[in-house]
Amino acid sequence: MTGPRIIDGKAVAAEVRAEMAKKVAAIKSKHGQVPGLAVVLVGEDPASKVYVRNKGAQTVEVGMNSIEHKLSAETSQDELLALVDTLNKDPQVNGILVQLPLPKHIDAELVLNTIDPIKDVDGFHPVNVGRLWIGERALVPCTPTGSVILAKSVAPNLSGMDAVVVGRSNIVGKPMAALLLRENCTVTIAHSRTRDIENVVKKADLVVAAVGIPEFVRGDWIKPGAIVIDVGINRIEGPDGKGRLVGDVNFAEASKVAGAITPVPGGVGPMTIACLLKNTVEAFEMQTG
Ligand code: GUN
Repeated sequence: MTGPRIIDGKAVAAEVRAEMAKKVAAIKSKHGQVPGLAVVLVGEDPASKVYVRNKGAQTVEVGMNSIEHKLSAETSQDELLALVDTLNKDPQVNGILVQLPLPKHIDAELVLNTIDPIKDVDGFHPVNVGRLWIGERALVPCTPTGSVILAKSVAPNLSGMDAVVVGRSNIVGKPMAALLLRENCTVTIAHSRTRDIENVVKKADLVVAAVGIPEFVRGDWIKPGAIVIDVGINRIEGPDGKGRLVGDVNFAEASKVAGAITPVPGGVGPMTIACLLKNTVEAFEMQTG
């Protein structure tokens, strides 16, 4: 018997970046300008610093401008709002990302809602959320976008599939459901209050796990041959006392049953920044008409 197909997020992300590098080169010859992505980091959160560094490096790698604003943890809300306003007005800036989490004295929702929706490369602004759900051209959150690309890398046509999204966050679960509906899936959103969740998941041809609970989805919840996309990144202590990363799916179990499955790490993770670059190109194209 052959095992499941392990979906290689690193390889697919590299393909997306190569495609973006080509698009950026075409934009440069047409407009004499390249898209610019501004990333704002407030404070010293170590994980955020790593993300921001990786975002900057990959932005430059595909030929775009990376503009980084690193502000102290004491920055006031008004100062941050003023910076967002300046970036909204700057024609060299096509995409704006304010790295989360923000310090507690800052109202993150207010800051995110101040970003001009046409530059909102996170796709978190209510205008983009609404546009996504009514099927208008929108900037869509990066992680769900990357998850759909990975599912389509093994099943190019998702139409008619029963899809179950486990998790209902605004950042992943809800936009994921909207995107799968757009792909003509029959979509169920399961969550912490779902009754008999095992059997709900068991009906799915496509499972997307985004609950943030280590190894929550078990192997015997998976329909044989299903596609499993694991959005979770959880650090747990292994039997040897060392930290290790696991997803929201029990990979050892689920990989015995699934038709195709993403690993953690190396699945959805690498797709997020690749899709951020894609959104920045999309934002540039929306702004230049
Ligand atoms: N922090 C961790 N992931 C993200 C993300 O996708 N966007 C933003 N803005 N902050 C994050």
